[in-house]
Amino acid sequence: MNKITIVGAGRVGESTAQFLAAKNLCSEIVLLDIHKGVAVGTALDIQEVSPLFQFDTRLTGGVDQALMADSELIIITAGLPRKPGMSRSDVLASNIPIMDGIIDGAIKYAPNAILLFVTNPVDVITYHAFIKTGWPRSRVFGQAGVLDSSRMASFIAMETGYSIMDIYAMVLGGHGDTMVPMLRYCTIAGIPIEKFIAKEKIETIVERTRNGGTEILALRKNSSAYDAPAASIVEMVDAIVHNRNRILPTVCLLEGEYGHEDIAIGVPAVLGKSGITDIIELDMNETERKMFEHSASLVREDLALLKAM
Ligand code: 2OP
Repeated sequence: MNKITIVGAGRVGESTAQFLAAKNLCSEIVLLDIHKGVAVGTALDIQEVSPLFQFDTRLTGGVDQALMADSELIIITAGLPRKPGMSRSDVLASNIPIMDGIIDGAIKYAPNAILLFVTNPVDVITYHAFIKTGWPRSRVFGQAGVLDSSRMASFIAMETGYSIMDIYAMVLGGHGDTMVPMLRYCTIAGIPIEKFIAKEKIETIVERTRNGGTEILALRKNSSAYDAPAASIVEMVDAIVHNRNRILPTVCLLEGEYGHEDIAIGVPAVLGKSGITDIIELDMNETERKMFEHSASLVREDLALLKAM
């Protein structure tokens, strides 16, 4: 890939730029931020890593949206993070106007780009961007489930002591306290986790996964998580850059899948060079369906707030 723009040179944006450069995933990264010095300084700081980590990626920073021009991918991390005690929905009203400015910039300067949203509440913001751009859903989607699944896989490894290389976890639904861990698809070496972990322990892991972001925020107090979120973004970018057709939980616009439309929420999607090429519909049992519907109903509550704005 040639050019990736990261909007927001805060901690998630910075870590994302570091990981992307270190993995040589593109030839150019632009960091955009309303604080010019932060964007320019962060880009320069990472550029000075290049001799040590041996990457040729060129990094620049700035404040001018025209810098997005010709980006193939725009990753949006900007916006207000939540503070301890706040839910992701609490930042909706503050973040929508910020997103509007960025989306307008993308429409003007990079009309063929893929938009990957990370800013919270990510399900609602992704939906908003889809409506505002009028672009196909293949090019407007969000990151949440890769992070939630990574957190869950980490907790499974910590509980069992087995290698993370053999652990697979899948978390769907909205990126909030009601996200939907799909236990039937969480495995160690292809074997369902129930074989290795007692029921009550699995419930603890599920709760910890749902509160994964809140746990980090409560510990750090002045910062949300950024390392795992950035690595999760990079996992998705890698799938796009290498046209891998990976099946990754992705915040997608639903058009009838899972019995829903006019909503964006986490579902398994096929990700390659043109973005999302397919959504995989899983048969859900009664428990999974109930959890998914509950999660969707909360995303819809936020969508109602959005529509009333
Ligand atoms: C998280 O879960 C910030 O929503 C992000 O850590």
